[in-house]
Amino acid sequence: MKIGLLGHGTIGAGVDRIIEEISCMEVKSVMSLEVDDSFRDRHVEDIDTIVNDPEIDTVVEVMGGVEPAFTFTSKALKAGKNLVTANKALVAAHYKDLIALSEEYGGAFRATASAGGSIPWLVNLERAKRVDQILNLSGIMNGTTNFILSKMKDEGADFDDVLKEAQCLGFAEANPAADIDGPDIRRKLNISANVAYDVLIAEDDIPTFGIRNVTAKDIENVSSLGLTLKLLGVSGKTDAGVYAYVEPTLLPGSDVIAHIPANYNLIRYEGKYAGVQSYMGEGAGRYPTAYNVVEDLFDILAGTKHFYSTEARETVPDNSIPVHRYYVRTGAESAALSGITEEQREGFVLTKPVSVQEMHGVIKDILTSDPAAFMAGIPE
Ligand code: HSE
Repeated sequence: MKIGLLGHGTIGAGVDRIIEEISCMEVKSVMSLEVDDSFRDRHVEDIDTIVNDPEIDTVVEVMGGVEPAFTFTSKALKAGKNLVTANKALVAAHYKDLIALSEEYGGAFRATASAGGSIPWLVNLERAKRVDQILNLSGIMNGTTNFILSKMKDEGADFDDVLKEAQCLGFAEANPAADIDGPDIRRKLNISANVAYDVLIAEDDIPTFGIRNVTAKDIENVSSLGLTLKLLGVSGKTDAGVYAYVEPTLLPGSDVIAHIPANYNLIRYEGKYAGVQSYMGEGAGRYPTAYNVVEDLFDILAGTKHFYSTEARETVPDNSIPVHRYYVRTGAESAALSGITEEQREGFVLTKPVSVQEMHGVIKDILTSDPAAFMAGIPE
């Protein structure tokens, strides 16, 4: 297998390094904004050099971002190359287009590392749905936010200090808003739901509330309730469609997710036959992510074209179905919040069971007058 590698940053350098040890693969050409001595002799300036090289059968895209990644990967697929990507922004935005190009031109399309980093998550969802029906899936899908919340709880660490540490360790996004405001999880949830339920969800249709506003006092309040705060992506299948949302979630000690440390991810699905299956591992970082890219390359060599559905239906998540209580901390007066409050505690309220749709609407209104407000779901 001869590979054209698009991107030689954190993940790309990891892929290049791992492939050095694999005799049946060779990174023939590399396109990258910055060039170093490890690949200067293989560097090319132009995507067409890779696309028009008949020796290159497979393109690995690890540049990140939607453009120019989509233009480049489309060209590669149209030239009949196989495509492996770890780029969740690309896959979430162009899932349907990439599947269609792969189908039309015959190249494989695989993206296991786009959700879960090193975890064999998407690949097992695909296997599971051959036999089973995926009823729901949820989990910690972002290492940076789990790292922050774990350190705030266990060490009383300051939010900004831990975020900086996560950036130094190489798993926070270049723009950490994608981590702390939830878009990174939203994309991974989007891709997972698409694969699990054969749907096409638009990213913006997934209500998302992150942990930007969490304070040490929130962590203390949550501990006083005997619960642990984690940022989760959650989705499930209903009779009519699916629900999907991202929100901080308070979990009891009896739930294994409450104990997932540091930058680890734990993602799980519930199958009609298999029951709950959980996958834990490193969801970010150079070698963990590069590992799954190279696994995809091996799967292509073994003849697996892609694991995505060609029957996916465009679906808008219905978040009026999931209902639970919420923890809300705000200094704002809100009639909507008063209407759903069950219990007033010192510095926060606990709501009655309300739908995810309703609560995400209420907090959106509250944020206009109290930009520091925070909420977290409390699943039954
Ligand atoms: N910033 C992401 C995380 C990287 O922390 O999980 C992997 O997608």
